[in-house]
Amino acid sequence: MIRITTLNGGTMTRQKFVENLLKRADVKTAARGEAFAPANIALCKYWGKRDAELNLPVNSSLSISLGKLGTRTVVKFAKSADRIFLNGKHAPKAFAARLSAYLDLFRADGQFFEVRTKNNIPTAAGLASSASGFAALIKALDQLMGWGFNPRELSMLARLGSGSATRSLYDGFAIWNAGQRADGMDSYAEPLDAPWDSLRVGILEVSKARKKTGSTEGMNRTRETSELYEAWPAQADCDYDELRTAIVAQDFPMLGKTAENNALAMHATMMAAWPPLCYWKPQSVSLMHKVWAAREEGLELYFTMDAGPNLKLLFLQENQAAVKKLFPKVQVVIPFSS
Ligand code: DP6
Repeated sequence: MIRITTLNGGTMTRQKFVENLLKRADVKTAARGEAFAPANIALCKYWGKRDAELNLPVNSSLSISLGKLGTRTVVKFAKSADRIFLNGKHAPKAFAARLSAYLDLFRADGQFFEVRTKNNIPTAAGLASSASGFAALIKALDQLMGWGFNPRELSMLARLGSGSATRSLYDGFAIWNAGQRADGMDSYAEPLDAPWDSLRVGILEVSKARKKTGSTEGMNRTRETSELYEAWPAQADCDYDELRTAIVAQDFPMLGKTAENNALAMHATMMAAWPPLCYWKPQSVSLMHKVWAAREEGLELYFTMDAGPNLKLLFLQENQAAVKKLFPKVQVVIPFSS
Protein backbone atom coordinates (compact mmCIF):
# COMPACT_ATOMS: atom_id res chain seq x y z
CA MET A 1 0.00 0.00 0.00
CA ILE A 2 1.10 3.53 -0.65
CA ARG A 3 2.01 5.46 2.47
CA ILE A 4 2.53 9.15 2.02
CA THR A 5 3.90 10.84 5.08
CA THR A 6 4.68 14.27 3.70
CA LEU A 7 1.17 15.74 3.93
CA ASN A 8 2.31 18.50 6.24
CA GLY A 9 5.74 18.70 4.68
CA GLY A 10 5.60 22.51 4.34
CA THR A 11 6.89 24.64 7.16
CA MET A 12 4.39 27.48 6.95
CA THR A 13 1.36 27.62 9.23
CA ARG A 14 -1.95 29.08 8.09
CA GLN A 15 -1.60 31.82 10.71
CA LYS A 16 1.72 32.88 9.17
CA PHE A 17 0.18 32.75 5.69
CA VAL A 18 -2.58 35.14 6.79
CA GLU A 19 -0.10 37.45 8.55
CA ASN A 20 1.94 37.71 5.36
CA LEU A 21 -1.11 38.76 3.37
CA LEU A 22 -2.39 41.14 6.05
CA LYS A 23 0.91 43.02 6.03
CA ARG A 24 -0.07 44.37 2.65
CA ALA A 25 -3.60 45.33 3.66
CA ASP A 26 -4.66 48.86 4.39
CA VAL A 27 -6.86 48.57 7.47
CA LYS A 28 -9.86 50.79 8.18
CA THR A 29 -12.70 48.84 9.75
CA ALA A 30 -16.39 49.30 8.90
CA ALA A 31 -19.53 48.71 10.97
CA ARG A 32 -20.53 45.65 8.95
CA GLY A 33 -19.71 43.55 5.94
CA GLU A 34 -22.18 41.72 3.73
CA ALA A 35 -21.55 39.47 0.76
CA PHE A 36 -22.94 36.70 -1.41
CA ALA A 37 -20.99 33.84 -2.94
CA PRO A 38 -22.31 31.13 -5.25
CA ALA A 39 -22.06 27.40 -4.70
CA ASN A 40 -19.88 25.63 -7.24
CA ILE A 41 -19.66 22.19 -8.79
CA ALA A 42 -16.29 20.89 -9.90
CA LEU A 43 -16.10 19.51 -13.43
CA CYS A 44 -12.47 18.59 -12.79
CA LYS A 45 -12.30 17.63 -9.12
CA TYR A 46 -9.97 18.69 -6.36
CA TRP A 47 -9.11 15.42 -4.63
CA GLY A 48 -5.99 15.30 -2.48
CA LYS A 49 -3.90 17.83 -0.57
CA ARG A 50 -0.18 18.30 -1.00
CA ASP A 51 -0.20 20.41 2.17
CA ALA A 52 -3.04 19.94 4.65
CA GLU A 53 -2.12 22.95 6.78
CA LEU A 54 -2.41 25.45 3.89
CA ASN A 55 -5.03 23.43 1.97
CA LEU A 56 -2.81 23.17 -1.08
CA PRO A 57 -4.16 20.72 -3.65
CA VAL A 58 -2.35 17.98 -5.50
CA ASN A 59 -4.06 18.96 -8.77
CA SER A 60 -5.65 21.99 -10.39
CA SER A 61 -9.44 21.95 -10.60
CA LEU A 62 -12.17 23.62 -12.63
CA SER A 63 -15.72 24.42 -11.60
CA ILE A 64 -18.96 26.02 -12.58
CA SER A 65 -20.73 28.29 -10.13
CA LEU A 66 -24.45 27.92 -9.59
CA GLY A 67 -25.58 31.48 -10.29
CA LYS A 68 -27.95 32.76 -7.63
CA LEU A 69 -27.69 29.59 -5.51
CA GLY A 70 -25.26 30.08 -2.69
CA THR A 71 -24.66 31.79 0.64
CA ARG A 72 -25.27 35.33 1.88
CA THR A 73 -23.35 36.38 4.98
CA VAL A 74 -23.37 39.44 7.21
CA VAL A 75 -20.49 40.03 9.64
CA LYS A 76 -20.26 42.57 12.47
CA PHE A 77 -18.10 42.94 15.55
CA ALA A 78 -19.46 41.32 18.71
CA LYS A 79 -18.73 42.14 22.36
CA SER A 80 -17.49 39.15 24.31
CA ALA A 81 -17.80 36.02 22.18
CA ASP A 82 -18.50 34.96 18.60
CA ARG A 83 -22.22 34.74 17.79
CA ILE A 84 -22.91 32.53 14.81
CA PHE A 85 -26.29 32.10 13.13
CA LEU A 86 -27.21 29.78 10.28
CA ASN A 87 -30.45 30.33 8.37
CA GLY A 88 -31.84 32.55 11.14
CA LYS A 89 -31.09 30.20 14.07
CA HIS A 90 -28.12 29.65 16.37
CA ALA A 91 -25.77 27.51 14.32
CA PRO A 92 -25.12 23.88 15.32
CA LYS A 93 -22.05 23.51 17.54
CA ALA A 94 -19.77 21.86 14.98
CA PHE A 95 -20.61 24.49 12.36
CA ALA A 96 -20.00 27.38 14.79
CA ALA A 97 -16.73 25.83 16.00
CA ARG A 98 -15.43 25.49 12.45
CA LEU A 99 -16.26 29.13 11.67
CA SER A 100 -14.77 30.41 14.92
CA ALA A 101 -11.56 28.46 14.29
CA TYR A 102 -11.37 30.12 10.87
CA LEU A 103 -12.06 33.56 12.37
CA ASP A 104 -9.18 32.94 14.81
CA LEU A 105 -6.87 33.40 11.84
CA PHE A 106 -7.98 37.01 11.45
CA ARG A 107 -8.98 38.35 14.85
CA ALA A 108 -6.94 40.72 16.98
CA ASP A 109 -6.72 39.98 20.71
CA GLY A 110 -10.16 40.28 22.32
CA GLN A 111 -11.94 40.73 18.97
CA PHE A 112 -15.17 38.79 18.38
CA PHE A 113 -17.60 38.53 15.51
CA GLU A 114 -21.30 38.13 14.87
CA VAL A 115 -21.84 36.10 11.72
CA ARG A 116 -25.26 35.65 10.13
CA THR A 117 -25.16 33.28 7.24
CA LYS A 118 -28.00 32.07 5.01
CA ASN A 119 -28.01 29.44 2.31
CA ASN A 120 -30.57 29.66 -0.47
CA ILE A 121 -29.38 26.33 -1.79
CA PRO A 122 -32.11 23.86 -0.99
CA THR A 123 -30.47 21.89 1.83
CA ALA A 124 -32.42 18.96 0.49
CA ALA A 125 -30.17 18.96 -2.55
CA GLY A 126 -27.20 18.06 -0.39
CA LEU A 127 -25.44 21.13 -1.68
CA ALA A 128 -25.47 23.43 1.36
CA SER A 129 -21.85 23.84 0.98
CA SER A 130 -18.80 24.98 2.82
CA ALA A 131 -17.56 26.36 -0.52
CA SER A 132 -20.06 29.21 -0.83
CA GLY A 133 -20.03 29.60 2.97
CA PHE A 134 -16.32 30.34 3.34
CA ALA A 135 -16.24 32.45 0.16
CA ALA A 136 -19.13 34.63 1.36
CA LEU A 137 -17.58 34.89 4.83
CA ILE A 138 -14.19 36.05 3.62
CA LYS A 139 -15.78 38.62 1.27
CA ALA A 140 -17.92 39.99 4.10
CA LEU A 141 -14.95 39.99 6.47
CA ASP A 142 -12.87 41.88 3.92
CA GLN A 143 -15.46 44.68 3.98
CA LEU A 144 -15.73 44.71 7.78
CA MET A 145 -11.98 44.75 8.33
CA GLY A 146 -11.30 47.15 5.45
CA TRP A 147 -8.55 45.01 3.93
CA GLY A 148 -9.43 45.68 0.30
CA PHE A 149 -8.08 42.37 -0.98
CA ASN A 150 -8.54 41.50 -4.65
CA PRO A 151 -10.47 38.35 -5.66
CA ARG A 152 -7.27 36.35 -6.12
CA GLU A 153 -6.14 37.13 -2.56
CA LEU A 154 -9.63 36.48 -1.23
CA SER A 155 -9.65 33.12 -3.00
CA MET A 156 -6.43 32.16 -1.20
CA LEU A 157 -7.94 33.13 2.14
CA ALA A 158 -11.17 31.24 1.38
CA ARG A 159 -8.93 28.25 0.58
CA LEU A 160 -7.89 28.07 4.23
CA GLY A 161 -11.54 27.49 5.21
CA SER A 162 -12.24 24.82 2.59
CA GLY A 163 -10.43 23.99 -0.63
CA SER A 164 -13.48 24.16 -2.86
CA ALA A 165 -14.28 27.65 -1.46
CA THR A 166 -11.27 28.91 -3.42
CA ARG A 167 -13.40 28.67 -6.58
CA SER A 168 -16.59 30.19 -5.14
CA LEU A 169 -15.29 33.75 -5.43
CA TYR A 170 -16.46 33.86 -9.04
CA ASP A 171 -19.55 33.46 -11.19
CA GLY A 172 -19.43 31.14 -14.18
CA PHE A 173 -16.42 28.93 -14.74
CA ALA A 174 -13.51 29.14 -12.29
CA ILE A 175 -10.11 27.52 -12.29
CA TRP A 176 -8.05 26.84 -9.21
CA ASN A 177 -4.37 26.66 -10.04
CA ALA A 178 -2.79 24.03 -7.83
CA GLY A 179 0.47 26.00 -7.76
CA GLN A 180 3.84 24.60 -6.77
CA ARG A 181 5.17 26.90 -4.11
CA ALA A 182 5.47 25.66 -0.53
CA ASP A 183 4.12 28.98 0.77
CA GLY A 184 0.88 28.59 -1.23
CA MET A 185 1.07 32.02 -2.84
CA ASP A 186 0.53 30.59 -6.32
CA SER A 187 -2.49 28.47 -5.33
CA TYR A 188 -5.50 30.68 -6.10
CA ALA A 189 -8.58 30.71 -8.30
CA GLU A 190 -9.41 32.91 -11.26
CA PRO A 191 -12.43 33.20 -13.52
CA LEU A 192 -12.49 31.58 -16.91
CA ASP A 193 -14.42 34.17 -18.84
CA ALA A 194 -16.54 32.07 -21.19
CA PRO A 195 -20.28 32.55 -20.68
CA TRP A 196 -22.34 29.62 -21.92
CA ASP A 197 -26.00 30.63 -21.74
CA SER A 198 -27.51 27.33 -22.85
CA LEU A 199 -25.64 25.23 -20.28
CA ARG A 200 -27.76 23.61 -17.58
CA VAL A 201 -27.01 21.77 -14.34
CA GLY A 202 -29.66 19.42 -12.95
CA ILE A 203 -29.59 18.32 -9.35
CA LEU A 204 -30.83 14.82 -8.60
CA GLU A 205 -31.15 14.22 -4.91
CA VAL A 206 -30.63 10.70 -3.66
CA SER A 207 -30.20 11.25 0.06
CA LYS A 208 -30.38 14.09 2.56
CA ALA A 209 -28.44 12.17 5.20
CA ARG A 210 -25.19 13.64 6.47
CA LYS A 211 -22.32 11.68 5.03
CA LYS A 212 -20.26 9.63 7.47
CA THR A 213 -16.91 10.60 5.99
CA GLY A 214 -16.31 14.25 5.13
CA SER A 215 -14.28 15.34 2.08
CA THR A 216 -11.17 16.21 4.09
CA GLU A 217 -10.97 12.78 5.69
CA GLY A 218 -12.01 11.07 2.46
CA MET A 219 -9.31 12.64 0.33
CA ASN A 220 -6.61 12.14 2.96
CA ARG A 221 -7.50 8.47 3.33
CA THR A 222 -7.52 8.02 -0.45
CA ARG A 223 -4.17 9.68 -0.86
CA GLU A 224 -2.60 7.63 1.90
CA THR A 225 -4.01 4.17 1.11
CA SER A 226 -5.34 3.88 -2.45
CA GLU A 227 -3.02 2.30 -5.01
CA LEU A 228 -5.14 3.90 -7.73
CA TYR A 229 -4.45 7.38 -6.42
CA GLU A 230 -1.07 7.30 -8.16
CA ALA A 231 -2.86 7.65 -11.49
CA TRP A 232 -5.11 10.50 -10.37
CA PRO A 233 -2.87 13.61 -10.74
CA ALA A 234 -2.04 12.80 -14.38
CA GLN A 235 -5.70 12.15 -15.27
CA ALA A 236 -6.79 15.34 -13.47
CA ASP A 237 -4.20 17.41 -15.35
CA CYS A 238 -5.33 16.00 -18.66
CA ASP A 239 -9.04 16.49 -17.86
CA TYR A 240 -8.36 20.04 -16.71
CA ASP A 241 -6.78 20.90 -20.08
CA GLU A 242 -9.56 19.17 -22.03
CA LEU A 243 -12.27 20.94 -20.09
CA ARG A 244 -10.68 24.31 -20.76
CA THR A 245 -10.55 23.49 -24.45
CA ALA A 246 -14.16 22.25 -24.43
CA ILE A 247 -15.37 25.40 -22.66
CA VAL A 248 -13.59 27.80 -25.00
CA ALA A 249 -14.89 25.86 -28.04
CA GLN A 250 -18.35 25.34 -26.44
CA ASP A 251 -17.98 21.67 -27.27
CA PHE A 252 -20.67 20.18 -25.04
CA PRO A 253 -20.05 16.45 -25.64
CA MET A 254 -16.37 16.97 -24.83
CA LEU A 255 -17.27 18.87 -21.66
CA GLY A 256 -19.81 16.28 -20.54
CA LYS A 257 -17.65 13.26 -21.29
CA THR A 258 -14.59 14.71 -19.57
CA ALA A 259 -16.51 15.83 -16.48
CA GLU A 260 -18.30 12.49 -16.09
CA ASN A 261 -15.11 10.49 -16.59
CA ASN A 262 -13.25 12.72 -14.11
CA ALA A 263 -15.90 12.16 -11.43
CA LEU A 264 -15.94 8.39 -11.96
CA ALA A 265 -12.13 8.25 -11.86
CA MET A 266 -12.15 10.16 -8.56
CA HIS A 267 -14.71 7.73 -7.11
CA ALA A 268 -12.63 4.78 -8.35
CA THR A 269 -9.64 6.05 -6.35
CA MET A 270 -11.82 6.19 -3.23
CA MET A 271 -13.18 2.70 -3.61
CA ALA A 272 -9.62 1.38 -3.74
CA ALA A 273 -8.82 3.12 -0.43
CA TRP A 274 -8.77 1.26 2.87
CA PRO A 275 -11.08 1.22 4.70
CA PRO A 276 -13.04 1.50 1.43
CA LEU A 277 -14.88 4.67 0.67
CA CYS A 278 -18.04 4.51 -1.39
CA TYR A 279 -20.37 7.51 -1.35
CA TRP A 280 -22.79 5.87 -3.77
CA LYS A 281 -26.18 4.51 -2.77
CA PRO A 282 -27.99 1.88 -4.84
CA GLN A 283 -30.18 4.67 -6.22
CA SER A 284 -27.09 6.64 -7.34
CA VAL A 285 -26.01 3.67 -9.44
CA SER A 286 -29.46 3.16 -10.86
CA LEU A 287 -29.58 6.85 -11.88
CA MET A 288 -26.18 6.50 -13.57
CA HIS A 289 -27.54 3.62 -15.61
CA LYS A 290 -30.54 5.71 -16.55
CA VAL A 291 -28.24 8.48 -17.81
CA TRP A 292 -26.15 5.98 -19.80
CA ALA A 293 -29.27 4.40 -21.33
CA ALA A 294 -30.62 7.83 -22.32
CA ARG A 295 -27.29 8.69 -23.88
CA GLU A 296 -27.32 5.49 -25.89
CA GLU A 297 -30.70 6.58 -27.18
CA GLY A 298 -29.10 9.80 -28.42
CA LEU A 299 -29.76 12.26 -25.57
CA GLU A 300 -26.77 14.48 -24.83
CA LEU A 301 -26.77 14.03 -21.07
CA TYR A 302 -23.88 13.55 -18.65
CA PHE A 303 -23.42 13.62 -14.89
CA THR A 304 -20.90 14.48 -12.23
CA MET A 305 -20.84 13.58 -8.53
CA ASP A 306 -18.98 14.90 -5.51
CA ALA A 307 -18.22 13.20 -2.22
CA GLY A 308 -21.84 12.19 -1.75
CA PRO A 309 -24.62 10.10 -3.31
CA ASN A 310 -26.35 12.82 -5.36
CA LEU A 311 -25.95 13.27 -9.12
CA LYS A 312 -25.53 16.58 -10.89
CA LEU A 313 -26.66 16.34 -14.50
CA LEU A 314 -25.08 18.33 -17.28
CA PHE A 315 -27.11 19.13 -20.38
CA LEU A 316 -28.08 21.93 -22.78
CA GLN A 317 -31.22 24.04 -22.72
CA GLU A 318 -32.51 22.38 -25.91
CA ASN A 319 -32.70 19.07 -24.03
CA GLN A 320 -34.27 20.42 -20.85
CA ALA A 321 -37.76 19.14 -21.62
CA ALA A 322 -36.47 15.65 -22.39
CA VAL A 323 -34.37 15.59 -19.20
CA LYS A 324 -37.33 16.73 -17.10
CA LYS A 325 -39.49 14.03 -18.62
CA LEU A 326 -36.93 11.36 -17.73
CA PHE A 327 -36.19 12.78 -14.28
CA PRO A 328 -39.36 14.58 -13.07
CA LYS A 329 -37.73 15.50 -9.74
CA VAL A 330 -34.66 17.18 -11.23
CA GLN A 331 -33.92 20.73 -10.01
CA VAL A 332 -32.64 22.72 -12.95
CA VAL A 333 -30.01 25.40 -12.35
CA ILE A 334 -29.08 28.01 -14.97
CA PRO A 335 -25.46 28.95 -14.22
CA PHE A 336 -25.32 31.88 -16.63
CA SER A 337 -28.69 33.56 -16.02
CA SER A 338 -28.33 37.32 -16.19
C1 DP6 B 1 -15.34 16.10 -4.15
O1 DP6 B 1 -13.34 21.52 -0.42
O2 DP6 B 1 -14.93 20.09 0.90
O3 DP6 B 1 -16.30 18.25 -3.82
O4 DP6 B 1 -10.62 21.40 1.46
O5 DP6 B 1 -10.90 19.49 2.98
O6 DP6 B 1 -12.58 21.36 3.01
P1 DP6 B 1 -11.60 20.55 2.19
O7 DP6 B 1 -12.45 19.73 1.11
P2 DP6 B 1 -13.64 20.22 0.18
O8 DP6 B 1 -13.56 19.06 -0.92
C2 DP6 B 1 -14.30 19.09 -2.10
C3 DP6 B 1 -14.16 17.79 -2.80
C4 DP6 B 1 -15.07 17.60 -4.00
C5 DP6 B 1 -14.39 18.04 -5.28
C6 DP6 B 1 -14.34 19.52 -5.56
O9 DP6 B 1 -15.21 20.30 -5.13
O10 DP6 B 1 -13.41 19.90 -6.30
